[in-house]
Amino acid sequence: MATLRLGDTAPDFTAETSQGSLNFYDYLGDGWGILFSHPADFTPVCTTELGTAAKFKEEFAKRNVKMMALSVDGVASHAEWIKDINETQNTVVNFPIIADEDRKVSDLYDMIHPNADDTLTVRSVFIIGPDKSVKLILTYPASTGRNFYELLRVVDSLQLTAYHKVATPANWESGEKVVVSPAIPTGEAKEIFAKGVEEIKPYLRLTPDPTA
Ligand code: BEZ
Repeated sequence: MATLRLGDTAPDFTAETSQGSLNFYDYLGDGWGILFSHPADFTPVCTTELGTAAKFKEEFAKRNVKMMALSVDGVASHAEWIKDINETQNTVVNFPIIADEDRKVSDLYDMIHPNADDTLTVRSVFIIGPDKSVKLILTYPASTGRNFYELLRVVDSLQLTAYHKVATPANWESGEKVVVSPAIPTGEAKEIFAKGVEEIKPYLRLTPDPTA
């Protein structure tokens, strides 16, 4: 499988998970999805990431986003590890973890980077839209745990920019001013954005978050 790129269709699959056999597309339904991989069970950084993901589940659910994690260990290993995660991270892991022992899903999503590690998955993140296209890809090495606040932030940006003719500037947080899409002339932008358009340069126009 060629490397996945933004805009590509996220490959569908059916896999064994900590919550039984699941079909990815059926699981996502018509909502958004986050598929993220971990190097291995019973490892410290992954333990903190999955505990954090469990604590963020409600925030993702508010945004109509479902999570599915993956590691290349088996279902029995996942079940034991989840007990440890719940105990040490003071949470309840409440989303499926794929048991990708045959690397089927890892290969589909190119999650094994042989020059980093030839058997374990790196820390990949795929955010998938309701149309099943890939909206965002992140890749972190095993040594660096991901920032789940950043994942929420990018979901907010992806969802805002999917439905409004805006883009979000550096370090943007939900509710802050956004950038008018470069394709829209300022005159037209002033008609579209009732809250006002501030023209700093002809190519740099700000408007209040249209949803705030
Ligand atoms: C971890 O999750 O802690 C980890 C996994 C593989 C390599 C290094 C760290």
